[in-house]
Amino acid sequence: WYWLLPLCVAGYLMGSISSAILVCRLFGYPDPRTEGSNNPGATNVLRIGGKPAAALTLLGDVLKGVIPVLIANYLNMGPLVAALVGTCAFLGHLYPVFFHFQGGKGVATAFGLLFALHWPSGLVAGGTWLAVFALNRISSIASLSAFVVAPACIFAWLNPAFWPILVMSIVMILRHRSNLQKILRGEELGFKKKDQ
Ligand code: G3P
Repeated sequence: WYWLLPLCVAGYLMGSISSAILVCRLFGYPDPRTEGSNNPGATNVLRIGGKPAAALTLLGDVLKGVIPVLIANYLNMGPLVAALVGTCAFLGHLYPVFFHFQGGKGVATAFGLLFALHWPSGLVAGGTWLAVFALNRISSIASLSAFVVAPACIFAWLNPAFWPILVMSIVMILRHRSNLQKILRGEELGFKKKDQ
């Protein structure tokens, strides 16, 4: 517990590094906060940029979830502290101190946290994302489905980490408000096969 506060602050600062904004600057693409869905995340970078930029964004955002959990595990902090530290990285992604608190929806960072915390839960949530995306090719519906499943997996398999993962998943779902409204109106942006 002595390490909890410094680790949470470090996790938040790591999460605050917006891969999408930095990658778009590197590739000379428009700011993802003002293009497409206005979301600085890999899905929107794929929309406004292309596959290499999206893959780099995805990698950066996933690592922001993986690294804090691995550090907490290395320090033998246990699953609750590891989940709390990872959740701080997720919150950094949503409200980045380095980018005027204008962050993304946290899906890739949450996947990184989940895989590092408990890989079987990561596999089930990741499989859910892939299966739902294969059915409708809409990233937000796949993400929302995966993070309904994720807290249930953690509850079943890694109970001490349940509350942080549940709170993170609820915050992520609330963060998808605009997507949910578009889904209900039938206006959510999907990807055609050729876009992938
Ligand atoms: O990864 C975020 C995804 O769930 C939705 O992204 O750009 O379609 O709002 P976007």
